Amino acid sequence: MDDYRLLIDLHKQAHRQGPGGDAETKQALNLAMIDRAASLKVADIGCGTGASTLLLARLLNARITAVDFLQDFLDVLEERAERMGVADQITTLACSMDNLPFGDEEFDVIWSEGAIYNIGFEKGVADWRRYLKAGGLLVVSEITWITDSRPPDLQSYWDGEYPEINVASAKIRVLELHGYAPVGYFVLPEHCWLDEYYRPMQARFEDFLSRNGNSEEARAIVAAEQREIALYETYKAHFSYGVYVARKLG
Ligand SMILES: C[S@@+](CC[C@H](N)C(=O)[O-])C[C@H]1O[C@@H](n2cnc3c(N)ncnc32)[C@H](O)[C@@H]1O
Repeated sequence: MDDYRLLIDLHKQAHRQGPGGDAETKQALNLAMIDRAASLKVADIGCGTGASTLLLARLLNARITAVDFLQDFLDVLEERAERMGVADQITTLACSMDNLPFGDEEFDVIWSEGAIYNIGFEKGVADWRRYLKAGGLLVVSEITWITDSRPPDLQSYWDGEYPEINVASAKIRVLELHGYAPVGYFVLPEHCWLDEYYRPMQARFEDFLSRNGNSEEARAIVAAEQREIALYETYKAHFSYGVYVARKLG
């Protein structure tokens, strides 16, 4: 099994594939002041198995296009949508977020939790803008420094992993430079990382390893995840996901 298949195997049973939480998705909805009765077209980009998609479908009067480049995750999302009775609101699309087949001004809302980093925040907000109607809303979570200075080893780790990591004021500036009016921002609290994401993942490690014959590749994936968890636990005072809400101008 190649590494991709192993990563899918580890993550597809999870409720979410990155830090987040239902309460925080609702908080973002409130911050965006989205009219829950209005008929809306929403794109959820990098949706994974649909933690945010399914909640948005329940809370909004919306037709949602759920995009991910992994069909395995979309299959799980579809099963969950059926079980929850919201399948008729959701269309899945297996596609890369840097090559979306959308028309100009197609959506009222673009939502993306823990995924825009895959193409980079600046490229994502710039490229996706044209898919939003004038006055439409962008809601994205993005890895963010929450202190102005940080230990050199943490800085160099993130400089290697994702050089676009920055403080919130710099992210908000990027939104302004690309034709959005910032509406609001908040930081995902610790429970979104530990209780919603890392602890459930750790609870799956044993089954994951035995399902995959305790192979060297599977053990390497677990070790890498454990390193990421240790890094978060050591340095959580310095970084988190910021949730950014912005309105498309003009
Ligand atoms: C950290 S997970 C977040 C998933 C989900 N939004 C959540 O919060 O649970 C990032 C997601 O982006 C997807 N992804 C990564 N690169 C992508 C790309 N180029 N195009 C579309 N989806 C991508 C992954 O398959 C994964 O589901």
